[in-house]
Amino acid sequence: MQVKLPQTQDIQNKTVLVRVDFNAPLEVVNGAVTIVDPRRIDSALQTIRFLIENHAKVILMSHLGRPKGEPNPKLSLGPIANYLQETHRLPVTFVPEVIGKAVDQARANLQPGQILLLENLRFHKEEKKNDPEFAKTLASYADVYINEAFSAAHRAHASTVGVTEHLPSFAGFRLAEEVSHLRQLMDNPDRPLVIVLGGAKISDKVGAAQHLADVADIILVGGAVANNFLKAEGLEIYRSYIEDAGSDSEINYVQFAHNLIEDHKTERMLKDGYIPLPKILYPIDVLAAPSLETTNQAEVQTIDLTHDMEDTQEETQLLYTDIGPKTAQLFAEVITQAGTVFWNGPMGVWENQLFASGTQTVAQAIADNKGHTVVGGGDSLAAIDHFKLTDHFKYVSIAGGAALELLSGQHLPGLQPLHK
Ligand code: 3PG
Repeated sequence: MQVKLPQTQDIQNKTVLVRVDFNAPLEVVNGAVTIVDPRRIDSALQTIRFLIENHAKVILMSHLGRPKGEPNPKLSLGPIANYLQETHRLPVTFVPEVIGKAVDQARANLQPGQILLLENLRFHKEEKKNDPEFAKTLASYADVYINEAFSAAHRAHASTVGVTEHLPSFAGFRLAEEVSHLRQLMDNPDRPLVIVLGGAKISDKVGAAQHLADVADIILVGGAVANNFLKAEGLEIYRSYIEDAGSDSEINYVQFAHNLIEDHKTERMLKDGYIPLPKILYPIDVLAAPSLETTNQAEVQTIDLTHDMEDTQEETQLLYTDIGPKTAQLFAEVITQAGTVFWNGPMGVWENQLFASGTQTVAQAIADNKGHTVVGGGDSLAAIDHFKLTDHFKYVSIAGGAALELLSGQHLPGLQPLHK
């Protein structure tokens, strides 16, 4: 199902309320707030420019961080208004409120072609509760609503769902692009479809792994996520990180990994037909060290997981820090043959250069692939920026959790009202 894009007549000379996701990483340097990665902010520019060129009055609203329903000056959207003014020369006024007299005054002063940015929506607990009165007040600011916050579309909040009950609702251009790239992966991929999953946490990838295992040809698992698979196969992981599901969780991640391996044991051939492989591939070797922060190359060792391991006293202190060179080579070979690749999560602790090679090899192989290559998730994006490979990916998704939920086959509440 396609989302509905606004046509000129839908927005021209109107007041348009736009939900953006300006939840970008910020850093304070010498007392000034700087935006570490402005990608999410920049992703809304096409929609914003379309609106101001068509003389709309634009009211932008976003969350930033998780302020727990009360004001927190560190999470103000003020610095983002400065960024839009200074870097993109946009006519933006910031109002340090979401509801109240200052907002009413600023709305009264707003001229066609100008932009008003409201304060952080999550300074009000009503936002996350999808409070009907709060949603109605937000909707009363405008004639039309546009959701340009795909990365928040998995949240059923007042600004993503509640407002749509009161206003004609459309999708932003970038939201539509994100949805189309991600749906193409599931519905109509050029095969073989190779999924690469890594990073530290498995909890947010369980749904996507489960669903994608049915559509993908091969799933490559690295990072700390792979520790669950190694453990499931009875391999030693020493002190390596495994995410704790918590005592009240119904999911045991090692059991999940075991079931996934068992359910998809059938061998697959890649397109050249010369590598018979099971569908779920996890590391056959790893790099290990006594700490993630070590700078001493002599402390780093390669462990071949296909050989019997002897647990010396020294080894029991080890942590797995990266996929090993054989695994990196195997993963790169598989990726080379893929028609479509989706990647979320680094293969190791790439921020430490001693443990960067697995992630770099995989990133380079995806960058060299001429097929449909999609990368998502903040850590993977930071890694490809670091390796200067970002421009080589066909599509860089700015959504983390929302992309994974869509790839889990779930209906995202924020998308439902935007369908044609
Ligand atoms: C994100 O960073 O994934 C989105 O901005 C959603 O943020 P949230 O997880 O705090 O709802």
